[in-house]
Amino acid sequence: MFDTMTITKTAGAFIGALLFLLLMNWAASGIFHVGPSGHHVEGEEHAQAYTIPVEAAAGGEGEAKEEGPDFATVLASADAAAGEKVFGKCKACHKLDSSDGTGPHLNGVVGRPVASIGGFGYSDGMKAHGGDWTPEALQEFLTNPKSVVKGTKMAFAGLPKVEDRANLIAYLQSMP
Ligand code: HEC
Repeated sequence: MFDTMTITKTAGAFIGALLFLLLMNWAASGIFHVGPSGHHVEGEEHAQAYTIPVEAAAGGEGEAKEEGPDFATVLASADAAAGEKVFGKCKACHKLDSSDGTGPHLNGVVGRPVASIGGFGYSDGMKAHGGDWTPEALQEFLTNPKSVVKGTKMAFAGLPKVEDRANLIAYLQSMP
């Protein structure tokens, strides 16, 4: 039925089509690649394998640069009720009734000098940190305690979300 020539032509056409699709796909991903990386599109929507490393890089940059409104602005519209929930992560070590646990009490902490609770055994790192716990200083510390206060004995990973930090600090401000 089919002679060699027919088979060869059919195969040739098929391979040609595959090659064409492959090229189109490659060209298309080249085009889409430029969009997200050029505009810092945050996450989602691109299903293409090529964009995955780009998204990862964009995420890393965002963290390092800490873009967006400054902390005072976020704090101004923070939600103390939501902050009470965030404080659930601190409760194991910190109380709000002027008694100390694993950590010093945190009622009245906003504006309080660092490491100022008499009778609490602060680490040398915390004692050396100095200054007052302004909202700004608190949010910086709470982002990553161990990198901000070297040698701290507060075993807490940190609150990566700025909204969580703002809501929590608004809650602490309401606990004199
Ligand atoms: C596993 C226990 C633990 C958890 C959880 C924890 N802390 Fe602490 N925290 C400590 C300890 C211990 C210290 C004292 C650190 C030092 O001396 O280095 C401390 C110190 C602090 C200080 C400094 C207080 C001062 O008097 O200078 C603040 C502010 C603070 N913690 C806030 C928080 C907040 C807010 C959370 C929850 C998001 C939290 N901590 C979660 C144990 C904890």
